[in-house]
Amino acid sequence: MRTQVAIIGAGPSGLLLSQILHNAGIDSVILERKSLDYVLGRIRAGVLEQGLVDMLDAAGVGARMHREGLVHDGTELCFNGTRHRIDFKELTGKTVMVYGQTEVTRDLVDARRAADAKLVYEAEDVELHDFDGDSPWVTYRKDGVEHRIDCDFIAGCDGYHGVSRASAPQSVLKTFERVYPFGWLGILSETPPVSEELIYARHERGFALCSMRSHVLSRYYVQVPLDDKVEAWSDERFWDELRRRIDQKAADTIVMGPSIEKTIAPLRSFVAEPMKFGRMFLVGDAAHIVPPTGAKGLNLAASDVHYLSEALIAHYGSGEGELIERYSENALRRIWKAERFSWWMTNLMHTFPDASGFDGRMQVAELDYVTSSKTGAAALAENYVGLPY
Ligand code: FAD
Ligand code: DHB
Repeated sequence: MRTQVAIIGAGPSGLLLSQILHNAGIDSVILERKSLDYVLGRIRAGVLEQGLVDMLDAAGVGARMHREGLVHDGTELCFNGTRHRIDFKELTGKTVMVYGQTEVTRDLVDARRAADAKLVYEAEDVELHDFDGDSPWVTYRKDGVEHRIDCDFIAGCDGYHGVSRASAPQSVLKTFERVYPFGWLGILSETPPVSEELIYARHERGFALCSMRSHVLSRYYVQVPLDDKVEAWSDERFWDELRRRIDQKAADTIVMGPSIEKTIAPLRSFVAEPMKFGRMFLVGDAAHIVPPTGAKGLNLAASDVHYLSEALIAHYGSGEGELIERYSENALRRIWKAERFSWWMTNLMHTFPDASGFDGRMQVAELDYVTSSKTGAAALAENYVGLPY
């Protein structure tokens, strides 16, 4: 088989890249290790920046998002038992869209299938070859049969555990990492959300987040020690812990119900540099991870797709190669700023095992500043709604 761009991974970054390239007349093939059901079963991000909303619209896949998604003009920060609102719209003129990553993925798969895309699920043993030369190729196995795809470029959209970053020359690859000493235990529950907007809560017992997927589907998280096991958390224990960490009104009015999903995710900051190795590019989680505080993971994957699709469209259109050469540099400038914001929000809101009383007072003083100063609030809001591409 021959294609212009071989895409590894059918998560949001691989699918969005493929759709944008298709709309520009550029051919791609997507190889995904898992089944479609498995990919759609993963509950992940829920907050989309305006930039991603605009990209989904431009790619022609935004209709259901506008029908079913929830536009949020602000968020609430809770500390010392009181909630304080950050008004994104007033401070930045922008809003965010609450619409699950699962739904974004589903919309993209539907669009790709409607266009007869070459989308291969359960592709085993994907290997990347000769991307340091002019004629890269990719091999994989499907149903026991070996396949080869020749291509112009390879886009490694295969997440943190993918094969693309592992295939990069390790002598060139630099990685930067911080691992946090806690995780997030998250549940999905078919109950109305406790509040119209998200609540990010700092509490001595640990961070908590009240989020949602719709008016009838809530998503809640509590900070837990890294070695905690999901089995140790009955629904009852989860609701008790969550209610202790949020303000009294929210604790009194929250509607509790059985969880329909419950998982623990570790928190990590990670960046790989560079993101281009000859004719192979790293995109999204393959190149970087942020801790979830601040909802940047999916949005960063989308901004990489913005820079890469722009570069490939210029290459195939006018033949201009400058944007391809600068992909890594352009993407990384924005990535590091989102890494900084996610690290800052994580440090501001979580209880660290070795934190002193002084550290705790510093967190509260900073939260007080951020929620009482227009400048402080604007800095948070500007980052939360997404920095420009
Ligand atoms: P992925 O979504 O990881 O997609 C990569 C795809 O590549 C996967 O489908 C994978 O199966 C496939 N793949 C991997 N290896 C291979 C291979 N060798 N061959 C072929 N295919 C392969 N972000 C937020 O903003 N908010 C959140 O609440 C949030 N929660 C998260 C919870 C979890 C448990 C995780 C893991 C991430 C979470 N994120 C969250 C981050 C966000 O989901 C990611 O940033 C986003 O999924 C990145 O998209 P991606 O397409 O780059 O990577
Ligand atoms: C969600 C996750 C986040 O990390 C976040 O900051 C906001 C919302 C969510 O899953 O809904």
